[in-house]
Amino acid sequence: MKRILLSLLITVSLLTAFACQPGGSGVGDKVRVGVFMSLTGSTANFGISSVNGIKMAADEVNTAGGINGKQVELLVQDDRSDASEAATIVTKFVTQDQVHAILGEVASSRSIAAAPIAQNAKIPMLTPSSTNPEVTMKGDFIFRSCFIDPVQGAAIAQFAARTLGAKRAAIMVDRKNDYSTGLEKVINEVFTRMGGQIVATQSFQEGDQDFNAQLTSLKGSSPEVIFVPGYYNDVGLIAKQARDRGITVPLIGGDGWDSAQLYAIGGSALNGSYFTNHYSPYDTDPKVQKFVNDYKGRYNTVPDALAATAYDAAHIMFDAIKRANSLDGTAIRNALAATNGFPGVTGAVTFNENRDAVKPIVMIEIKDGGTYAVRERVQVDGAAMPMASSSASPAASTSVSPTAASTPAAATPAAGVKASPSPTRSATP
Ligand code: PHE
Repeated sequence: MKRILLSLLITVSLLTAFACQPGGSGVGDKVRVGVFMSLTGSTANFGISSVNGIKMAADEVNTAGGINGKQVELLVQDDRSDASEAATIVTKFVTQDQVHAILGEVASSRSIAAAPIAQNAKIPMLTPSSTNPEVTMKGDFIFRSCFIDPVQGAAIAQFAARTLGAKRAAIMVDRKNDYSTGLEKVINEVFTRMGGQIVATQSFQEGDQDFNAQLTSLKGSSPEVIFVPGYYNDVGLIAKQARDRGITVPLIGGDGWDSAQLYAIGGSALNGSYFTNHYSPYDTDPKVQKFVNDYKGRYNTVPDALAATAYDAAHIMFDAIKRANSLDGTAIRNALAATNGFPGVTGAVTFNENRDAVKPIVMIEIKDGGTYAVRERVQVDGAAMPMASSSASPAASTSVSPTAASTPAAATPAAGVKASPSPTRSATP
């Protein structure tokens, strides 16, 4: 009798355990979305903001009844700002966790490392903010809901050449970072074509603490601006050490600068420098203001571009799953590809033939005390701009034109671009 009871107990517990396993009977009950982001490590702020945005989007959908009646379950994993860890996590997502869709990463190098795994498993992966063209070239299951670096780099170079009238520029590039090297090539090509000259190029590596040798060398070539296509943690230190060495010219970078940590690290050394970004939290669009207020209410901080792009990406994925009306990877992939004018906080999203979004860019000026001003809005108008061999994708050939060059105190909304009433905000809310 005891024996029978015991074996019954074992059978029951085995059955229960099986039911809880992915692949067991419970799997159909939820929409499982794998999220891989840097929650610790060198660029932890990228991942923390992104996951905040994704969680908010998931809660909105779940509170409203889920996707076609199914609740969204997020499987959030920290890749520790490491590309090989990103690949390991995504392998686990597709082999063990049986996720239906994947959101991640921010850094292009980490998205590039993980994308082939999602592609091979035919599980759609959407990056909110990786801008290097190579990411989506990994295959037709890989999407991005932000602009790409050939466009961002052109905006940066054109701003320096046209708006600032610079003729001589230097570049500081992180040679091991796909985002940094990709952006450097485009900036170099466009700035040179617009009549400028790259008088010096120096390199660094993520996590370096001492940039004095490179900066001393750059100073000797008397640049009028210094392009720094890097991430906030390095940029903050570079700015500080540049000012310490008596370099007073503006530094100009891209979206990788965006973090409240930037000013915390670089402080006033960043005043008068510029970077391109995905959105402004002071956009009057009610949709943007609702997002900013909800986010502030929930997290007690102003959402940066990572939070906004990740929030959008999550909703774009949920919307595609809803339209697919299936949890099959190919069905979701096809619905995602059919996304048409999705009204995101960072702009409307339609994927082009490369599964990239075409979106407006804002040029931010860093002001005294770490406030941000929208210096210029850059609208991609689609006209032909000869791209260098540096552009990985010929189809990405686009023209960038500043639609409103305004003083920071009175940023004028440009035609076709959303207005920004209050161009100034604190970078360290
Ligand atoms: N675009 C950067 C990359 O591809 C990541 C990034 C996006 C960083 C937005 C900050 C803000 O690596």
